[in-house]
Parts: sequence; structure tokens; C-alpha cells
Amino acid sequence: MSQNRDGFTSTFGVLVATLGSAVGLGNIWKFPYLTGTNGGASFLVVYLLATLLVALPVMIAEIMLGRASRSNAVSAFEKLAPKNQQFWSIIGYMGLVSAILILAFYTGVAGWVFAYIFKSLMGSINSTDPATAKAAFGDLVSNPTQALFWQWVVLIWAGSIIMMGVSKGIEAVAKKLMPLLFLLLVLLCIRSLTLPGAMEGVKFLFAPDFSKITAPVVLTAVGLAFFKLSIGMGTMLTYGSYFRQEQNIPATATRVMLADLSVSMLAGLAIFPAVFAFGFEPSAGPSLVFMTIPAVFASMPFGNVFMALFFVLAAIAATGAILSILEVPVAMLSERFNFSRKKATLVSVGIIGLFGVPAALSSSLTADWTLFGLNTFDLFDYISSNILLPLGGILISLFVGWVYGLPQLKQQLSNEGKLNNGLLINALFILVRYVTPIIITVIMLKGLGLI
Ligand code: PHE
Repeated sequence: MSQNRDGFTSTFGVLVATLGSAVGLGNIWKFPYLTGTNGGASFLVVYLLATLLVALPVMIAEIMLGRASRSNAVSAFEKLAPKNQQFWSIIGYMGLVSAILILAFYTGVAGWVFAYIFKSLMGSINSTDPATAKAAFGDLVSNPTQALFWQWVVLIWAGSIIMMGVSKGIEAVAKKLMPLLFLLLVLLCIRSLTLPGAMEGVKFLFAPDFSKITAPVVLTAVGLAFFKLSIGMGTMLTYGSYFRQEQNIPATATRVMLADLSVSMLAGLAIFPAVFAFGFEPSAGPSLVFMTIPAVFASMPFGNVFMALFFVLAAIAATGAILSILEVPVAMLSERFNFSRKKATLVSVGIIGLFGVPAALSSSLTADWTLFGLNTFDLFDYISSNILLPLGGILISLFVGWVYGLPQLKQQLSNEGKLNNGLLINALFILVRYVTPIIITVIMLKGLGLI
């Protein structure tokens, strides 16, 4: 089967598609709002540490497992684990659950982005006044018909793209539009940083107050690091399975991590100065970006046009991420159950749509469906980001560190000795064998209040 799997067609294509998965609403929406609710700069510091020490090693390990097995997230572990240790494929099944939970709320947020494209063109969100911005956002999310409609627009859009196949669909979309998003973010930053009172926002983002760091905050930072780099659930494994044999995996992962980080920083610098300049609440939560970004554009000439363009690009970034998550169940269904790509897509989109309904309605009809004080939307996010992805990270690290082993790791990551990166591989091996699993386990147990 492995000979006729579709794959990425160039080294640059691999980088862009992987980046297309990593950069998404995690950068533009989740990173700013979590930084805002968790105290700003101190959260940023913990997040950076989590990315470097924990997420990057897992990312490299996960991509490597994909390329070594050339299979989907379940079959990969069946192939690479010894016959009597087939239980490792649980990682793949957990990824399937994460994919469904994440997409159930993520497509809802992407729906808000799609809706904002139209709202910006109509001028209905063009305001620097916090109360007006809040009302406009509230109208959208608390209207069940609108929330569901836009979520389904997203599901149908992403489903259609994925049916066209890996290289043609994903690569083509991602390649053309990422640089434009970057440019527009730079423009936003410049406007935001030159607003009167902008410095307060810069301070919020860069002057840490370490008293704000608690165990749950650390767990949230780790969860965000995993979420943003699309790791711990088989997405990067699945993408790794389409990597070319000569691709330098550690270098590619590091580049993706750095680029992903720059997009987040730009988003932070576009948002927080404006938050303070216009009097928004940094801890507004999921609505933060949807209120602040329009305000920055509203204080710019031709703001409406730029704003529409921004939301178009955000929609495209979200699409890249959605496609990569959707690829997990689609690859699994088509390779394991011999579903056609079309059938696999329809089944996956159907299931996600089902879970998506209560998530999309959690500011209206299902607002009082709560568990542990979280509504469906927040619960799906919490379970996936703060539990399943880190748990996936622990298991992937343990698998590579204790089962897959150093000799094979060396062979894979040095591209059979063609790359001279032995030291780096040794360091990575120690990290995934001991450091990452222990750190994540402690953070999870403490963050969940279990120890
Ligand atoms: N990394 C994506 C983002 O930042 C989200 C994502 C999570 C994608 C998990 C794939 C897997 O938006």
C-alpha cells in the first residue's frame, strides 16, 4: 500500500504544508486570548519554555514516526511496535478522539471568522468602541441559526478540499497565501503599536509578573504549545508519513516552530496595544480577537477592505489547520477500512458535525449543558488541549525513548547517515526518554489538581 500513497511533492511544499497545519486559529485567536486571561508576559515565558523543552522534541519524534512507518496514526504504531506490544496503537485512537473534539469547537470559531468576512464588508463591525464590538460578537455567537450555519459552511468547505487529495488540495492552498497573512499582520502591528497608549499593551506582553503562574496556568501553556504545533494526536505523524525521504526532519520542525512563534508574536503585538489603547479587557476570553482586530482596522484608512482581507486570510489559515486535523480520521478510515477518500471524508465530517452542534450552541441553546463548570465548547477544548494532547505527547515520547530506541532513531533522523546531526539526536533521545515524559506528567497531575 505504501507505494501508492499520495505525498508532498517538494521540500518547500513540505515546509509550507506543515506550517499550514501549525499556523491557524491557535496563533490568531487562542494564543492572544489565553495570554490575556493568564496574566500576559509570565504566561508567555512559560509558553516559550514549554515549546522549546517539551513540544519541539515531541514534534520531531512524531514526524519521524510518520515517515518511518508511512502510515496513518493507528497503523504506524502497529507497524513499529513489537508484535506483543500492539497496545501502543491506542495513541492513534486517542488522536481520533482529539481530532473530533478539536474540530467540533474549532470549526465553530472558524465559522465566526467566515462570518466576520461578511460583517466587515457590510461595515457592521467597524467600531473602536468596546461596547459596540461586544454586542456585534454577542449577536453572532448567541444566535443559534447563525452559529450553526457558519460552522457548516466551514465543514463543507474543508470537506470539499480534502476530497481532492493531499498534494493537490493542501499544498496548493497553503503555498500561495501564508506570506500574505504574515504581511497583513505586520501592517496591523504597526497600526496597533502607534496608537496612543499602546505601550501599556507592550508592557503587558513583555513585563512578566511571576506571581500569576500557577499549576493550571502551566498546564494551559503546555496544552497551547501542543495545540499550536499540531502535536500529540497524530496530525504531525500523518503529515510526516507524506514527508520526502530526504527531508531533514529536525530542521523542518524547528523552522515550523519558529515561524509559528513569529505569527503568534505578531498577533500578540497587533492585539494587546489596541486592547489597552481602546479600553478592552485583556481577559475577555474567546471574544478578545473578534473585538480588538476590528477596532484596529476601524482606526485605519480603508479599514473595511483590509479587515475583510484579514479575515479571509485568517479563514485560510484556519482551513490549513482544519484540513490537517481532518486528515487524521480520513487517512485512518481510508487505509484501515478501505473507504474511498470521498466516503471517509463524508463519514468524518458527519461525525464532527454532530459533535459540533452542542459546541456551536454553547452560547445559546446549550449554554447550561455544563460539566466541571465548563460548557460544551470549553469542555471539548479543555479535554483535547489540556488532557489528550499532553497525554499523547507523553506516550509518543515513551514509545520513541523506550520501544523504538536510539539506533533506529539515529537512522531515521540522520536520513541513514546522510546528515551529520549525531549530537542533536543523542540529546533528543535523552529528552524523549526521560525529560519530556516526566515533565509533562508532573505538570498534568499538578495542573489537574491530582497531586
Ligand atoms: N495548530 C493548529 C492551530 O494553531 C490547530 C491544530 C491542533 C491543528 C491540532 C492540528 C492538530 O490553529
